[in-house]
Amino acid sequence: MNISIKNIKETDCICDALILPVTEGDSGLYNRLGSTTRDIIKKLFSKEFKGKQNEVLLVPAPEDIKPGRILLVGLGKKGEVSAEKVRQAGGKAAVHLRDMGMKRVALSTSVISSLKLSPITFIEGALLGLYTFKKYSTGKNNKAIDNIVILLKSSRELDNKLKWTKTVTSSVGFARDLINTPSNDMTPTHLAKAALALKRKNLSVKILGRRDAERLGMGAYLSVAKGSKEPPKFIVLEYKGAKNKQPLVLIGKSITFDSGGISLKPAEGMEKMKYDMAGGAAVLGIIRAASELRLPVNLIGILPATENLPGGSATRPGDIVKAITGKTVEIINTDAEGRLILADAIGYAKRFKPCAIIDIATLTGACSIALGNEAIAMMGNERELMDKIKKSADNTYERVWEMPLYDEYKEYLKSDVADIKNTGGKNGSLVTAAYFLNEFAEKTPWVHLDIAGTAWVEKDKPYIPKGASGIGVRLILDFIKEMS
Ligand code: BES
Ligand code: MN
Ligand code: ZN
Repeated sequence: MNISIKNIKETDCICDALILPVTEGDSGLYNRLGSTTRDIIKKLFSKEFKGKQNEVLLVPAPEDIKPGRILLVGLGKKGEVSAEKVRQAGGKAAVHLRDMGMKRVALSTSVISSLKLSPITFIEGALLGLYTFKKYSTGKNNKAIDNIVILLKSSRELDNKLKWTKTVTSSVGFARDLINTPSNDMTPTHLAKAALALKRKNLSVKILGRRDAERLGMGAYLSVAKGSKEPPKFIVLEYKGAKNKQPLVLIGKSITFDSGGISLKPAEGMEKMKYDMAGGAAVLGIIRAASELRLPVNLIGILPATENLPGGSATRPGDIVKAITGKTVEIINTDAEGRLILADAIGYAKRFKPCAIIDIATLTGACSIALGNEAIAMMGNERELMDKIKKSADNTYERVWEMPLYDEYKEYLKSDVADIKNTGGKNGSLVTAAYFLNEFAEKTPWVHLDIAGTAWVEKDKPYIPKGASGIGVRLILDFIKEMS
């Protein structure tokens, strides 16, 4: 799709549809479109359209202006419009126009600009909302918008902002594609291939196999891989965008399918466990965008990839394994596999002397029990780091909610026979999962983001079609932008 910024009048823009964002009840905003159009809009406002948030109405345009149609899209009450409302309106408008068969569309920016918000946020919502996953559908569907013109005077700042948004949203789409791909195709090997395909001058990729992991002593990670015939792949990406800066390490949980292992999950809903690599996909998306945008930071991406299956050689409850740091772990429940692979990834990450480690993981069912599908659960060992992530959560509306890491949780994970056990029981399982990771992060500044409740969307949202959300990509890229 082509997106351009052009300084032309709404009335002169040749397109299938002109998008007019409007606030609630405000019919007088578009005087500049000429009296015929203004009268039409005024009339619509009395009945069909109120301008409520995300309300859309497509109408034929009068003969005396160039656009073929006008799409009114509501932003809600004037005093309450926010960046998120603009983003949602962008998604709603774009999806509606696509479904109505529109190909070339233009965006009027005057109302959004007058509210001191950015029209690029509207485009962000549009690009995120237009995502589709059609790889496995054999029927034809070629409805697509192929041209968007933003009606605005171009500037360096605007161009940069648009470039950022195009790259970030396409990386969200890239992550969504990986997550939506079923586990028979999205194996650890395939995920490794997707990582290798990102290689370029500023980005190197290394894949460690089972042997390498054994040599490094990653007994926790390998214990998860034992039940599957699919070979595990420990994927390491290194992006260099700055000289002499300590790297930020991003770790993404990459279980390409989580059956629970010997502690088998119930059948209902198990098909969704293909999204247990959403953290890993987000990390790939982040590094892809960083490298494309040449952000002035150093990043390490780690994706400990494996399946979690039951099998004749699978790990049993009661087994004791040794992690890379030397800590022994008693496995109580093989379905608590995420923390095992992350423990070795965190232990491995320390060799890079990172300024901080952020892990992104679909770690616990308890995350959605606590927060529903609205927020990422955040826990960590450094205040400043968490505050910065909160700021980025506000900027991107990939919201985070902090949960505690009380010292008392240590008790929950006490094992009689090993240094630690991998589950702390039902109570507080969202926080004890994080506490388990904390025991491996030790003194390194570290933040854990549990995306179990937000990585998958059951019902279309204005800019997230149902399926993988790609959450984490926009959040962490904003965080990196602010830190650099
Ligand atoms: N991948 C799951 C967590 C999950 C559940 C993510 C539902 C998304 C949706 C994780 O590996 C898991 O099974 N966690 C267990 C841990 C328990 C056995 C301590 C859980 O939360 O039930
Ligand atoms: Mn599990
Ligand atoms: Zn899992």
